[in-house]
Amino acid sequence: MESFLIKGGVPLHGEVTISGSKNAALPILAATLLTDEPCVIRRVPDLSDTRFMVKILESLGATARFADGTVKVHARKIKGYADYELVRKMRGSICIAGPLLGRLHKARVSLPGGCIIGARPINLHLKGFASLGATIKIEGGYVDAAAKKLVGNSVFLGGRAGPTVLGTANVMMAATLADGVTVIESAACEPEVVDLAVFLNAMGAQITGAGSPTITVTGVAKLHGAEHEVIPDRVEAATFLIAAGATDGEVTLKGARADHLRAVIDKLNEAGVAVERAGAHLVARRRTRLKPVDVTTLPYAGFPTDVQAQMMSLLALAPGISIITERIFESRFMHVSELARLGADIEIEGPSAIVKGGRALSGAPVMASDLRASAALVIAGMAAKGSTQVNRIYHLDRGYERMDLKLQKLGARIGRIEEK
Ligand code: EPZ
Repeated sequence: MESFLIKGGVPLHGEVTISGSKNAALPILAATLLTDEPCVIRRVPDLSDTRFMVKILESLGATARFADGTVKVHARKIKGYADYELVRKMRGSICIAGPLLGRLHKARVSLPGGCIIGARPINLHLKGFASLGATIKIEGGYVDAAAKKLVGNSVFLGGRAGPTVLGTANVMMAATLADGVTVIESAACEPEVVDLAVFLNAMGAQITGAGSPTITVTGVAKLHGAEHEVIPDRVEAATFLIAAGATDGEVTLKGARADHLRAVIDKLNEAGVAVERAGAHLVARRRTRLKPVDVTTLPYAGFPTDVQAQMMSLLALAPGISIITERIFESRFMHVSELARLGADIEIEGPSAIVKGGRALSGAPVMASDLRASAALVIAGMAAKGSTQVNRIYHLDRGYERMDLKLQKLGARIGRIEEK
């Protein structure tokens, strides 16, 4: 297993190009199953998750080739039954269910099960499929959805923590080939949902309202092949903006979308990290001494839960009390105890973490527990004095395209080593 070895204390300087979005690419790759014609998806980040999705498409019978950031898929003939082990291993693969149900009127996929950040049920996905007329059976770890035909309907997809991103994506995809009109209420408004709707419309779907809480899908008889370029990864962009502030450096982001990052930029400005436009690019640097701020994670356009851990690393450096409240996932504070190993002073109180910031961090061996927690540990390790070893970075490779190489280009002293 690989680790990162980081020698801290170096301010990051230079330019970094933001990759395509993992969370947009996964449902878009799944959507290629909706047509028997070829599709070309560009700016797909080279990650273990996207490579996994390509494997799943192939296991369903599609031909798929991933090279130089482009995936060519041809799902000429497919089956409605996905390999248990493959789907079970990556939660995001649940978004093949909607396309299979839409095109074949049947889908058999393994239940994704919980993960370290929360229980993550799929009841809302299934509620959406049932509203289109599908019967749902859960047996032997599988969910079976089947329908003689799908009929458009209205469905409210709000849950315990508000809308569901992949639930909205799944129901939207299934509804593209249903008879009649589907109205999704309390839909997720994330840019990744909008990017998926853009691709589906390029395939001949009729979707309006994506990006708002009400999405309308008018079913069509058939979808055709299409080409699409995935949006930039706003979570990767946020991670580099925060790394610039935490190391007291100056970093220029190329290819990031500022309009997808408003809540993050707003909080960073409040914390003393200026994020400014420079032509088409974004530049981040500290404007003043870091200041404590309160952050609450919310559905888009609120502050993203996928940036909560990284923001905690920054606020551990800001003198004073910051309160971070996680409203989306029940147990997304696994990074707190690892940040404490680096000397951070953080207490968990229910859904909030009380960060007593301003202590100097010092390097130590730490363990990554999930994708975004690992990014937070890399940021804290770069801000800390001495050496930090971040173990189990396979978590990080799931969602960041060669983060070590990008950071080295910015002057970081970071290397990939075999875990001892
Ligand atoms: C997507 O997951 C992202 N993953 C997550 O990013 C992200 O954290 C999440 O949206 C929220 O923004 C991908 O896009 C692949 P949800 P998703 O359904 O769609 C509850 C990362 O780090 N819920 O919007 O699975 C659920 O338990 C990952 O890149 C139900 O109760 O998340 C959670 O508390 C991590 N019933 C909340 O809703 C359901 O049927 C939001 O989950 C579905 C969800």
